[in-house]
Amino acid sequence: MKLIDFGVRQDEEKYIKEWSQINNIEVKIVSELLTPETVQLAKGYDGIVAYQQLPYDEEVFDKMNEYGIHVISLRNVGVDNVPFEALKKNNIRLTNVPSYSPEAIAEYSVTGLMALLRNMKHMIRKVDQHDFRWEPDIGRELNQLTVGVAGTGRIGRAAIKIYQGFGAKVIAFDKFHNRDIENENLYVDSLDTLMKESDVITLHIPSLGKGHTVINKESISEMKDNAIIVNTARGDLIDTQDLYDAVANGKLYGAVLDVYENEVGVFNSDLSDQEFSDKLLEKIIKSPRFILTPHIAFYTTKAVKNMATISLNSMVDELKTGTSENEINLEK
Ligand code: COI
Repeated sequence: MKLIDFGVRQDEEKYIKEWSQINNIEVKIVSELLTPETVQLAKGYDGIVAYQQLPYDEEVFDKMNEYGIHVISLRNVGVDNVPFEALKKNNIRLTNVPSYSPEAIAEYSVTGLMALLRNMKHMIRKVDQHDFRWEPDIGRELNQLTVGVAGTGRIGRAAIKIYQGFGAKVIAFDKFHNRDIENENLYVDSLDTLMKESDVITLHIPSLGKGHTVINKESISEMKDNAIIVNTARGDLIDTQDLYDAVANGKLYGAVLDVYENEVGVFNSDLSDQEFSDKLLEKIIKSPRFILTPHIAFYTTKAVKNMATISLNSMVDELKTGTSENEINLEK
C-alpha cells in the first residue's frame, strides 16, 4: 500500500513520518495543496490524504478516478469545501476526522471569552504604550453569566463542562438531544430562546451553507443587551457586518471570532507586507471589543497529531475493508 498526503505543514510532518514507520506503510508527503495540477503526483498511489481550506476542485476527483484512486481521507472535520456530487460521480469514498480534540476547541472558546470579559486586548495594548490605568476597562465575571451553547456534539459538550467548571449557568440547544447531558436540564426549546436568554452565545454547529446565518441583524435584535458572541465553528454562521454594527452601536458587548466568513486565503497566510483589502476585517482587528484569531482553536499538538494519524488509519481501513468508521455518508 502506498499513500500520498497533500497540503502537509511542517508541524504535521513528524507525526506522518512516525506513523509511516510504525505501520510500515509508505506515505509521500507533499506540501502543495490538492489541485487539478498537483493531483498528478498521486499517480501510482492507492489513496490520497489531504487538508486545505480552499474548495476542492471537481477536476481533482475526475483525475483520481482516471488514476484508479477511490478514497480520499481528510485530516480535518469540516467537509463543507468538498463537492459531494463530483465524488459520487467518480465513485470516490470520503473520510474525515470527526474528533481530533474537542477539548482543544472548547478550551479555546473559554480562553477567548475570558480575554474579552477582562478586556485583555485593550489592556495589553495600553500597557504596550506604558499606560497602566485601570479605567475604563472594568471586567465581568463568567460565574455571573448565562452561557448559551449552540450545538451539543462533542465540542459543545466539552465546552459545557468547562463553562460549568467556571460557575456559569449553562443552557444549550441542539436539534438532537444528547443522551449524556439529557437529564442535566440544560436544553431550551429553540435556538431563538437560547439567543434571548444568554449573556454569551457560543457556536458549536456546522456551517448551514452560504447565506444561512444564525447571527444576523434579526437574531441580534432579540438578544440581551451587552451579549457576547463566541464563534470557533464556521465563519458563515455569522453576518459579520451585522455583528460589527451591533457592537459598534452598543447593542452587543463584543465577540470572539476564531473563524470569519471571508477567511480563506487570509487566515494562516503572512500578509504583513501587503495592502490589506478587507476593510471590515481591518475594523474588527482594530476594535478592542473583538478578539480575532486566525482559526487556531484546533491548533494544539494533541489535535494535530490526531488529525495526521486518524486520517491515515481511516485510509488503511478503507483500502483493506472497503469502509471505515469515519466514512462520510455522501447522500446526506
Ligand atoms: C476543521 O477541522 O474542519 C477545522 O475547522 C480546523 C481546520 C482549520 C484544520
